[in-house]
Amino acid sequence: MYENFILSTSVYINGSFFEISSDLTVLQACGLAGIYIPRFCYHEKLSIVGSCRMCLVELYKSLKPVVACATPIFKDIEIYTETALTKNSREHVLEFLLINHPLDCPICDQGGECDLQDQSLVYGSDRGRFKEKKRAVLNKDFGPFIKTMMTRCIHCTRCVRFMSEVAGDAVLGTLGRGKDMEIGTYIVNTLQSEISGNIIDICPVGALTSKPFAFTNRSWELRSVESVDIMDSLGSSIRLDFRGSEIVRILPMVNELVNECWITDKIRFTYDGFKYNRLITPLLRKKKWALNNGVAISYLTGSWERSILFLTSIIICFLFLFSVNNLKFILNELIDVQTILSIFHVANFLGSSNIISSDQTLSTNYSNIDMRENYLFNHPISYLEHGMPYIFIGSNLQLESPLLNVRLNKTSPIKKIIGFFGSFQKNNFNSYHLGISIHNIRRIMMGKHFFCKLISSYGVSSWISNIYYLNAFTNILSMINYIGKYNGVLNHYNVIHNDCSKVGIFDLCISNNYKQVSNYCYLKTDLPMLLYCLGSNPNLYQNVLISNKHFFIYQGHHSVVDEFKQIFLFLPSTSFIEKSKKYVNNVGKLVSVRKAVVSPGLSKDDSLIIDILNLILKHVNNKDITKEVLMFTYLPHLFSKVHNKNYNIYYLIWYTMCTIQNNKYSKLFYNIIYTNKIDNYYKTNQIASASKILGKMNVRLYNYTNIY
Ligand code: SF4
Ligand code: SF4
Ligand code: FES
Repeated sequence: MYENFILSTSVYINGSFFEISSDLTVLQACGLAGIYIPRFCYHEKLSIVGSCRMCLVELYKSLKPVVACATPIFKDIEIYTETALTKNSREHVLEFLLINHPLDCPICDQGGECDLQDQSLVYGSDRGRFKEKKRAVLNKDFGPFIKTMMTRCIHCTRCVRFMSEVAGDAVLGTLGRGKDMEIGTYIVNTLQSEISGNIIDICPVGALTSKPFAFTNRSWELRSVESVDIMDSLGSSIRLDFRGSEIVRILPMVNELVNECWITDKIRFTYDGFKYNRLITPLLRKKKWALNNGVAISYLTGSWERSILFLTSIIICFLFLFSVNNLKFILNELIDVQTILSIFHVANFLGSSNIISSDQTLSTNYSNIDMRENYLFNHPISYLEHGMPYIFIGSNLQLESPLLNVRLNKTSPIKKIIGFFGSFQKNNFNSYHLGISIHNIRRIMMGKHFFCKLISSYGVSSWISNIYYLNAFTNILSMINYIGKYNGVLNHYNVIHNDCSKVGIFDLCISNNYKQVSNYCYLKTDLPMLLYCLGSNPNLYQNVLISNKHFFIYQGHHSVVDEFKQIFLFLPSTSFIEKSKKYVNNVGKLVSVRKAVVSPGLSKDDSLIIDILNLILKHVNNKDITKEVLMFTYLPHLFSKVHNKNYNIYYLIWYTMCTIQNNKYSKLFYNIIYTNKIDNYYKTNQIASASKILGKMNVRLYNYTNIY
């Protein structure tokens, strides 16, 4: 196979000579030569079926036209794409396809982006010869995201192949034969996959369209901006379609290194979340220090001047009355690199290292984040397509990064062996459940486990985990290392993050003082505390903050319910579609979001608000130091072109062995049970939670059971 890939062969297309890789089909060869062949059923990322016959071409000495998508090229093949026979054949195929197709173009949401419409313009007739009645097909219910108009279906089976080959959820199929053929679910059911919305893009006609987008806008009225998906840590390339100041559609952009041509349903249908529940003006508490106890607290709409003045004076008063340790910054899951940097500077100036994260795991310290390898997805994403043993520790790839799951689901020449440690979870791949706690990893380490032999036979393995906090991390790492050392296996260790801000936070807040908010002891102190929440919902901490001695400043784009009556200042900020900012994705690469629409009301950029606070606090004008210069100082690795060096676990041997001597595998440590961190995939951040479209999706029970 590899030999075929590097061999090239001579091809003649319309009389011109080309030297083309020998493992391609006629359609692919023509594409490389810059000649477009019309197609309906062919898609680069799906298997070839050759069912629509739209791609007919003529070959030298062939008696009849051949399907270009399913015919492999051979030495000195002569292909003709523009002959009379080719053109006539395509016209006849199109006439057959249009026999039962409704005359819906004026009311069809695919209009303007429809392959059938485009091909009809080139190969269609101006009148039909079919006088009989057209057939009609009942529409199917595919759930809240996908609208079906099955009479328009041309039976290309792209959607069927996508659901079984890419989404790993073979719920769609063809029912009936001949004129009775239909696409549908065998058993009446909605589509439950996290990436099911992609069938809207791959359907070449208007049979499958976006339900929320139906009859709202026409595609040619929209303007677009390229951006990045920050709903998970992968950083997929997306296109934001907007009309006026409103995002009305989100589509994927092709990025072969990251998301190929797919996106998740969460980013695709989250666009209405930008307009609901928005915080648009600064709000100041009317009764300053009166806390709940039956007193109704109301807020005054304030100007930015007044709010910033109030903010700086309250911080200064607080620091004057109490120690700097009582001021804490809580960062949320959507925060960009520039804002983290600004926070970092304010905190440093105030002499505080209290920058904490809003995630909810029960942990104390992070692992050694001085080394990027400890918190990145280290091997290239494409390695998930290679065949080798993959072992998941506590991670549910289908929920944490559905597009990485797509890579893992791809078939490969070498068999993929997949095992997972943690609570039972629904996977769309065949896998071994290896246990729920770290104790089971130790059994593998000791060579007593059948999986140890499997790993050894491959000589390489990939360990994927969502664990990056100290005790568990170092012990897991040491065990994996042990397995590698004594079984001659090259192990890769990869960390999956649930949100896109985490790698940036780790890159900038290089300190083990950086702690997580759910460390209850850390927050539940008797001292008064001022918590500056950047987008992080204070209600998350209601179990922790039972005392009235905590006060909040809330800065974010979506409003929160002030159940504690402790937020005395709301500052409205912009969401990622309203600013041009940078994030660091899970593989450690800097990615940029771009401003598509103006920010609503009086909301301002997060980093601008913090910078102004910083300026006022410092009483200096640091205009000459640009944010890029600061970023280059703190994040030089992001500006280097080399990322993702192959990562060998032996690199960390010194560190893990040092730690293991101290830990001695305590009994408590063995009983750490890994559980899935995501309860509701469609509500993992404030934008997604505000979306009414995503709210219609029923939550599945992802964790079947937890033994203990
Ligand atoms: Fe027209 Fe295409 Fe819609 Fe058919 S699918 S009605 S050809 S726009
Ligand atoms: Fe093809 Fe669309 Fe019909 Fe599916 S619904 S078979 S993608 S035309
Ligand atoms: Fe070749 Fe459909 S694209 S048969």
